[in-house]
Amino acid sequence: MHQAAPRTPKYLADYALPDHLIEEVELDFKLDPTATRVAAKLRLRPNPKVAPGGRPLVLHGENLTLLSLALDRKPLEAEDYDLRETTLTIPEVPGRPFTLDIVTVCNPEANAALSGLYRSSGTYCTQCEPEGFRRITYFIDRPDALAVYTVRIEADRDEAPVLLSNGNPMEQADVPGTNRHYAVWHDPFPKPSYLFALVGGNLASVSDSFTTASGRKVALNIYVEPGKQDCCDWAMKSVKRSMRWDEERFGREYDLDVFNIVAVSDFNMGAMENKGLNVFNDKLILARPDTASDADYASIDGVIAHEYFHNWTGDRVTCRDWFQLCLKEGLTVFRDQEYTSDTRTGPVNRIASVRMLKTHQFPEDAGPLAHPVRPASFIEINNFYTATVYEKGAELCRMLQTLLGREGFRKALDLYFERHDGEAVTVEDFVEAMADVSGRDLSQFMRWYTQSGTPELACSLDYDPHTKTAHLRVSQVVAPTPDQNKKEPMHIPLKLGLLGANGDDLPLVLEDGTALEDGLLEVTEREHVFTFRDIPSPPTPSLLRDFSAPVRLTTSLDADQIEFLMMHDSDPFNRWQAAQTYATNLLTAAAQPDGDAASGKEAVRLAKALGTTASEEALHPAYRAEFLKLPSESDIARELARDVDPDAVWQAGETLRATVGRTARPTLTDLYTSLAPSGPFSPDPEEAGRRALRNAALDLLVATGDASEIERAFTHYREASNMTDAITALSILSHLDAPHRDEALQHFYTRWENEPLVLDKWFAVQARAARNDSVETVQALLSHPKFSLKNPNRVRAVIASFAQANPTGFNRADGGGYDFLASAALEIDRFNPHLAARLLGAFESWRILEPKRQASAQATLQRLATQELSTDSYEIVNKTLGRA
Ligand code: PHE
Ligand code: ZN
Repeated sequence: MHQAAPRTPKYLADYALPDHLIEEVELDFKLDPTATRVAAKLRLRPNPKVAPGGRPLVLHGENLTLLSLALDRKPLEAEDYDLRETTLTIPEVPGRPFTLDIVTVCNPEANAALSGLYRSSGTYCTQCEPEGFRRITYFIDRPDALAVYTVRIEADRDEAPVLLSNGNPMEQADVPGTNRHYAVWHDPFPKPSYLFALVGGNLASVSDSFTTASGRKVALNIYVEPGKQDCCDWAMKSVKRSMRWDEERFGREYDLDVFNIVAVSDFNMGAMENKGLNVFNDKLILARPDTASDADYASIDGVIAHEYFHNWTGDRVTCRDWFQLCLKEGLTVFRDQEYTSDTRTGPVNRIASVRMLKTHQFPEDAGPLAHPVRPASFIEINNFYTATVYEKGAELCRMLQTLLGREGFRKALDLYFERHDGEAVTVEDFVEAMADVSGRDLSQFMRWYTQSGTPELACSLDYDPHTKTAHLRVSQVVAPTPDQNKKEPMHIPLKLGLLGANGDDLPLVLEDGTALEDGLLEVTEREHVFTFRDIPSPPTPSLLRDFSAPVRLTTSLDADQIEFLMMHDSDPFNRWQAAQTYATNLLTAAAQPDGDAASGKEAVRLAKALGTTASEEALHPAYRAEFLKLPSESDIARELARDVDPDAVWQAGETLRATVGRTARPTLTDLYTSLAPSGPFSPDPEEAGRRALRNAALDLLVATGDASEIERAFTHYREASNMTDAITALSILSHLDAPHRDEALQHFYTRWENEPLVLDKWFAVQARAARNDSVETVQALLSHPKFSLKNPNRVRAVIASFAQANPTGFNRADGGGYDFLASAALEIDRFNPHLAARLLGAFESWRILEPKRQASAQATLQRLATQELSTDSYEIVNKTLGRA
């Protein structure tokens, strides 16, 4: 049996300054499909911060053919350097500044890993974060090596009329006497290699401009495949909205003459913040009402903002090393969340962010892949673009804002930029700016960055009618995680309110007379008792308002109190949370081996409350829609935390949805009718909210199983005038065994077979359908003529949708789902390790399953572990098994 060689982890504690600095880089590309020649001229010098004395120069490099190497213009002979598979070492270099000329060749056409220089539908493009630049030239490919880049790109004029790189355009001309041309770009801002980008191709563009607060005019361009220009309006609006917002909210202005965005169809992630030249997965740029859903419009807006905001949080101030990834990602996610809240519907976006955190990050923190927001070690950095680094990382920034106040946080960020512009820094530098501005000791807060696991916060309230005081007991525990045994108590901002008998908030005054204006308590010990005075009657506590900390909250509230919060809480987040908690309690009970079906009195009571809230005209329709989205299968599995039977979870959910549908039918029907679209399509939050509410009502109506409701869904599909309605109806029908299902799927395919992004939806809807034959369905989809393992969007549409969003299918009792994922991922692993390892992440929660499924998932993982795996997949498989 072949056993993959053990891979060694890297440790944060081993960080050492680079021995050499690269100050200037000149790159000369001769683009060619299979043999692109790259001439690099590097100006280097010994790092003055490192003890002097002839240190060898070690450069990273991968998949490169070295043509020539010269030091201070003098060619080096083979014996002057040591060329290995991933390094190029020159043992003797001068102890003063020197230059290195390196000529290499790489093969973009053969690059299916989509890291380094590759081709996407004929367009040359690059992806360098985190370690792709070393696949372009030999380099000190680490984020603390900042350099100023000048790039010349030469290419065939017909093949690549558009030539782009970072910074500002300097020159563009034909190469006389040839069919080739070239362009020169210069980026004046020192940057690490991971922010380098180059694009060459036959692209069309949409242009606009933006005048910054200080009056600089910036040219904006979005480059897309010719013919797609009509799908860029929304993206362009988002660019301008983001630029304005970052000026207003954080005082951050754009700094180059141009801001370019390129959309490509083959991309491993969502998008990339390369300085002045963002490269996007085209799914996050292209939108038209008939092809993009409201969810697509929202993600486009959010990701454009995210990448744009990186210009300051990531590019101008970057990371010292990859352990500090959250420094740019957590902060930038926080910034994009704030942008979305400010420009769309605040509470609804908070709900969306928390849903995302709980769905993806909580299981990560509770499973074998748990790691701190700033990991202390990793085997493959590509595996650390995680929900913990991104989403939990954003929550840490939010907590800092809560603790410092909006104004304090803004001041601290200003100080951070002032101190560190042009530097590669650490989480400590960031938190220090927060501490310095506020005068607060944030040393305990730092544990959020170093300790993994979700803290459990238990709260209970007693009322003393004689003294008119309420005592809130709070205790916190962080359970051990596979990576850390011992845990220390955390610094937790706990926002709360106490509701009086009429549902209004009572003034919060502590025993010693301190008034809590903002309702904020700080939990720092393992146990606290907070006493509130002058409380006239037993209050109902509303705890963790606005989800003020990424913790699991347990309370002693009974069903009546939860219902009271659902009807009265002035905090919109907690009001929604109360409805979810009510439903979750029913569903977790129902999903137990001999639980009561979620159809009894309590379910009817929930249904009535939901119906009332959903028709409360004063509330935003998008917010009302959130109430009608009952907890998902993954919500329930996460709450159960052990012995999970995904079929029982699914059944519990179906039963509750049917009960709600039946009980609230008149209200839901009313909503469905009254919210029918009237005017022309608009993606704005108002219209999108109406669609969301109407579609949520439809979903519950169909859940009744009534033939007339299924008919309604089919009519909804046929009459849909936008993608949101069409895909909602298709998705609802996809789970059913009705002839309408096949008819709608066939119709959708015929209409959209030549629109890849829409066709992805067709693939995804089938992969997600909860049906007995779903394993066979996804297996068959892999053989569909339009399927390709090489296109990450298509792979995600089928394989990730199935593994991550079809719990009954993926966890089918016969283990067929596990085998399917394992063999597909193994095949992908041979050419795109990053993508394969991400897919394998779907195994992370195998230990919470009932014993039979656990055994079968474990067997599949063990079989995988015996295969020859990439470093990426090796790390995921072995850690998931509890071995690495
Ligand atoms: N840095 C990108 C972001 O904005 C994500 C990314 C990581 C893209 C790695 C490509 C490769 O979050
Ligand atoms: Zn990012």
